[in-house]
Amino acid sequence: MHAFEELSKEFAQKFSVRHFPEQPASLYDPNEYFLSLGGKRVRPILCLMGNELFDEIVPDAWHIATAIELFHNFTLIHDDIMDKAPLRRNMPTVHEKYGDSTALLAGDVMLVAAYDYLNKVKSEQQRKIISLFNRTAREVCEGQQIDMDFEKQETVHLDEYLRMIELKTSVLLAASLQMGAILGGASRGNQDDLYAFGRELGIAFQVQDDYLDCFGDPAKFGKQVGGDILANKKTFLVIKTLESGTPAQVKELKRLMQENPSDKVARVLAIFQEGGVDKWAFDLKEQYITSAFQHLDNIAVLSGRKEPLTKLAHFLVQRDY
Ligand code: IPE
Ligand code: IPE
Ligand code: MG
Ligand code: MG
Ligand code: MG
Repeated sequence: MHAFEELSKEFAQKFSVRHFPEQPASLYDPNEYFLSLGGKRVRPILCLMGNELFDEIVPDAWHIATAIELFHNFTLIHDDIMDKAPLRRNMPTVHEKYGDSTALLAGDVMLVAAYDYLNKVKSEQQRKIISLFNRTAREVCEGQQIDMDFEKQETVHLDEYLRMIELKTSVLLAASLQMGAILGGASRGNQDDLYAFGRELGIAFQVQDDYLDCFGDPAKFGKQVGGDILANKKTFLVIKTLESGTPAQVKELKRLMQENPSDKVARVLAIFQEGGVDKWAFDLKEQYITSAFQHLDNIAVLSGRKEPLTKLAHFLVQRDY
């Protein structure tokens, strides 16, 4: 069994090759730039752990892990255009550095590169894996569109937000685990429980992301703190305030979202803080993490094999970057 740190080191080393041709440099340099900035590489590690939960890691798992990380980076490049984000991984975003049109195309070609790796998979489960990959990719697009639709809606219910983050974020974590499990020869029941573990964990992971977007330490977080507030994202912080804030807080928050004054971020943060954000975030994460671990418990393998995933799950919902 390998711990997160070991798999992370090994994946980083294998992934640090050049993934794109030299020319035209105006298209491929932006991608090489973005990949060189690192990232936590969580999803490929989940794929490798999903495989190792049931068997030794097979060579195909590295191809799928690479495809997943390329796909994730493609979504980030496009997401940063949609969210007008200036910073990622403590560096300028691709569209900020090279322009929107290049960022669109660089993202597109990164998605194609992901499929090249899926094409290398020799397992007889390849078609099944690609189907799962494609269903997941479609769901991510759906989640991303709903996330943008919500920017224009004054109110969003908590269950709508949870469904949106499940689509944009958690299905990819869940599918990464399941693809590994498929390669490991897991039974259908075990695959389903592992997917459900990833789905619940992924929701807690995005809740933490939304919390950090408001209250993260800018030096560690690596993204623009307050970006979600500027974009009028309907995160749980907005939803909880509108639901349980005082009439004055609700009125002020709605006004700030409409008028966008220059001190919007500071004023919205103050309202969130008055409401007890830390407890909201803690309770939401706790609810999903508890449910995630119930699904992990159900998986019929020796409990020692589950340790790396348990540790990784705790890290993902407590992380500060
Ligand atoms: C960012 O994902 C996008 C979300 C779904 C929150 P990560 O937090 O995994 O980003 P990197 O790859 O580590 O930079
Ligand atoms: C992004 O959610 C999810 C995807 C990229 C699919 P966010 O927009 O919250 O991610 P960050 O905060 O920019 O990493
Ligand atoms: Mg974003
Ligand atoms: Mg986004
Ligand atoms: Mg975010």
